[in-house]
Amino acid sequence: MSRAWWKEAVIYQVYPSSFLDTNGDGWGNVKGITSKVDYLKELGVDIVWVSPIYKSPQKDMGYDIADYKLIDPIYGTNEDVDDLISELKKRGMRLMMDLVVNHTSDEHEWFRESRSSLTNPKRSWYIWKKPKRDAAGNPLPPNNWSQILGEANSAWTYDSKTDEYFLSLFTPEQPDLNWENPEVRDAVHDVMNFWLDRGACGYRMDVINHISKDQRFPDAEPVMGPDYKYHPGTKYYVNGPRMHEYIQEIHRKVLAKHGAVTVGEMPCVDDIDEIIRTVGSKSGELNMIFIFDIVNVDNAVGMGRMTWRDWTAKDVSQAVTKWQRAMIEHDGWNTVFLENHDNPRSLSRYCDDSDAYRERGAKLLALMQTTQNGTLFVYQGEELGMRNVPKSWDIEEYKDIESINFWKASKALHAAHPERLAEARRILERKARDHARTPMQWDATPNAGFCKEGVEPWMRVNDDYKDINAEKQLATDGSTWHFWQEMLAERKTHADIYVYGDFEGVETESDEIFAYVRTDTKGGKRLVVLNLTGKSVKWDIPGAIKVQEWTNGNYPEKISEKALKGSLDLKPWEGVLATCES
Ligand code: GLC
Repeated sequence: MSRAWWKEAVIYQVYPSSFLDTNGDGWGNVKGITSKVDYLKELGVDIVWVSPIYKSPQKDMGYDIADYKLIDPIYGTNEDVDDLISELKKRGMRLMMDLVVNHTSDEHEWFRESRSSLTNPKRSWYIWKKPKRDAAGNPLPPNNWSQILGEANSAWTYDSKTDEYFLSLFTPEQPDLNWENPEVRDAVHDVMNFWLDRGACGYRMDVINHISKDQRFPDAEPVMGPDYKYHPGTKYYVNGPRMHEYIQEIHRKVLAKHGAVTVGEMPCVDDIDEIIRTVGSKSGELNMIFIFDIVNVDNAVGMGRMTWRDWTAKDVSQAVTKWQRAMIEHDGWNTVFLENHDNPRSLSRYCDDSDAYRERGAKLLALMQTTQNGTLFVYQGEELGMRNVPKSWDIEEYKDIESINFWKASKALHAAHPERLAEARRILERKARDHARTPMQWDATPNAGFCKEGVEPWMRVNDDYKDINAEKQLATDGSTWHFWQEMLAERKTHADIYVYGDFEGVETESDEIFAYVRTDTKGGKRLVVLNLTGKSVKWDIPGAIKVQEWTNGNYPEKISEKALKGSLDLKPWEGVLATCES
């Protein structure tokens, strides 16, 4: 497997509105990020990926961009970004920008022009279609696709001025660009060059597998059942007919000459061959993508994010093992992550976030991630074991457009069924994107040090900030933060094993234990055993594995001698790491 600096890099995602506010308006800003680069360096971070900070009406927290070349005043200025890049560079670190080009904001100049008349030169920069009509002649959407961030709604938005619909897959304020038009692609290349020329090292590419739509725009299968008018058209726009062609063009015209680092967000695809076409070492497309199997383990089978099912260790271990093996066997490259701004906190999701176990769980997940093959992503606050918002919070505290739409639709749909509405509420408590978006907990002062006392943060600070915060954990030996720091360093020191080594699933069929072995070509070998339950579990070490020494784990006590003799008594949420004979 070929080596590259970005494969060994640790990428830290900053959600800028919630990172650090230095000017007292309750929103994080670029200067706030710059003031924390030493903190990130100390943790072991190499690349800082910042979620969108461009000019935006913030209908979808910046994933609706009104000007790609201008930083939103709420975050600062273009010069603030120059400063951030130079402060990072001084420390051998880099900045990764977020590229959102499946759609723009409806306030982008391109869209304003496009919607102004049927003959405007930018009309064909977006996807416009004539309405269908009901018996009375009223306009109806051109097909039955549902909106992604509000599944009760149509993916099409009617514009009375020209009596046509435009495609807006995410929300009506996020019209989809028409990638069939070469002028659009040129404009995207130009935007990409702009930030790379300014010193960004590359891009995280938002829903980049949605850019090519099936030009027949057929109706979707009615999978949502009779209560719903609209259904996911995923099949017709995920990894669509010209997607590879468009990404290869980006690679040829932009990425290759800058040596840029790229990570594509590619939900709703799990076919190995299709993914290798993008991330295979010879693909000429992207370095790596986010694959979502691991965060889909708690979705109802075949359903979207805002659903729930029980899962076990087996679901986690099979999702991880599949992609670890796939990239090794097909010479591709993995991303390793459990959190981002679109998912609940991993500790609350995969472990037990009660005070009794939260530290164990957070460290267990750190151990699991730092010992996998691929480029590792850490999301802000994950290094502290930040948790979901308390269940007691009022629904009004949820600010995300997806949560708001989901709750509105649930109230309408379940008006006569209080138990179904209560279930919808439980889904929000488990899955809402808001959980990851609360302000970063820096210290125990009011507002957790995210913004000054007396300022109202844009989103409520989690009630637990006096216990869980960076200052406290930096000062405490053995804290979750220090565990992350130690494991990130271990990963770098032994990159041959952890980053590039082989991966063999040892226990992947158990509902309780996930165990695997990592090996390099020079005889280095590690065993990782994770108890993904809140119970004590005994696990027999297979005879072929000869443990030398238990080197790390998420409980303070040393592993007993008994473990060396062939079986392990794992405590609730216990994870251990051992060196082995080759
Ligand atoms: C991606 C982003 C998400 C956003 C969506 C539309 O999935 O991560 O936050 O809502 O794209 O841009």
